[in-house]
Amino acid sequence: MGAVDWDSRLFDSLIPLPDGTSYNAYFIKGSERSALIDTVDPPMAQELMEQLKEIHRLDYIISLHSEQDHAGTIPQVLQKFPEAKVIATPKGKNLLMHHLDLPEHKIQCVDDGEELFLGDKTLTFIHTPWVHWPETMVAYLSEFKILFSCDFMGSHYASSDLYVTDQGVVYEAAKRYFAEILMPFRPMVKRNLEKLNAYDIEMIAPSHGQIYPTQGMPRNTVVIPYVSMHGNTAQMVDYLVSALVERDVRAEQFNLAVTDIGKLACSLIDAATIVVGTPTVLTGPHPYAAYAAFLTNALKPNTKFVSIIGSFGWGGKTVEVLAGMLPNLKAEIIDPVLCKGRPGEAAYKELDKMADTITAKHQEFGCS
Ligand code: FEO
Repeated sequence: MGAVDWDSRLFDSLIPLPDGTSYNAYFIKGSERSALIDTVDPPMAQELMEQLKEIHRLDYIISLHSEQDHAGTIPQVLQKFPEAKVIATPKGKNLLMHHLDLPEHKIQCVDDGEELFLGDKTLTFIHTPWVHWPETMVAYLSEFKILFSCDFMGSHYASSDLYVTDQGVVYEAAKRYFAEILMPFRPMVKRNLEKLNAYDIEMIAPSHGQIYPTQGMPRNTVVIPYVSMHGNTAQMVDYLVSALVERDVRAEQFNLAVTDIGKLACSLIDAATIVVGTPTVLTGPHPYAAYAAFLTNALKPNTKFVSIIGSFGWGGKTVEVLAGMLPNLKAEIIDPVLCKGRPGEAAYKELDKMADTITAKHQEFGCS
């Protein structure tokens, strides 16, 4: 949630904002309770209130930092959700009472390392003083390994993309942000970074700028290593590639009979999905496909989805054998498409369905 501020060119009447900025807020829906992390700068309050329209209950408003660009809309949010408690550090409580006139009984203090249970989700609060005010803290959502860092590791950068898409641009924006906001507190930044070493972080979600996937977000790409004996599996691969491209998903096909394995390995680095294409030989996959699966399993790419397509003569266990060769991939299996002999209308329909599923999964995952 939150607001993208495309037009601002000066922050605190001092700091230039050549790329605008954003005020990110995060709504976390647990199975029992819900929480909103930070709010937005008051001039953009209406945007946040609009986003909260469909939400009927909020248990906690988490204030990671009391400066007005994150806390300034808490009073309005509290008006809509009078049942909510504001969570802050003890120093944060004091600042919120002074800056926003929040009543003392509405604010609940959290200690360093304290946990907040939302049912199936848990937030751990880590005090990170002086990045860049005395009361600052971050929150760690352990089930998803996400660190909500507020100003810490933020960037003044307005974008319609939620996740980092252009590392070069964001690197400059984040460095400028560090120079202008955090550099005076360098020793504290270092100490706080060391403190965060104890947490397994897969994503950093600041309250300014885009979200950083720390392991590199897989790209909106499908890699298809395949082998074909009589052209049937190759036809299925060609069809799937066209179906993906029509849906704006990048597809790279590698005929394993002629492929440079190094090129295939490079493509695997950031492909969100791998689809192995293989005919059934005797009762299992073609040895080239088995080799590609073995190699992929050994390289452990950050792939999120896997599937299998191919043609068979009379039967076999190709899917079970290939799937069993990829235990190292922490990937979701998408329904395979196998057809007997030459692919016909029914197989193409299933390949269209596979392309729809992959497209939806990539969008859901924020692949770009
Ligand atoms: Fe983004 Fe210190 O406020």
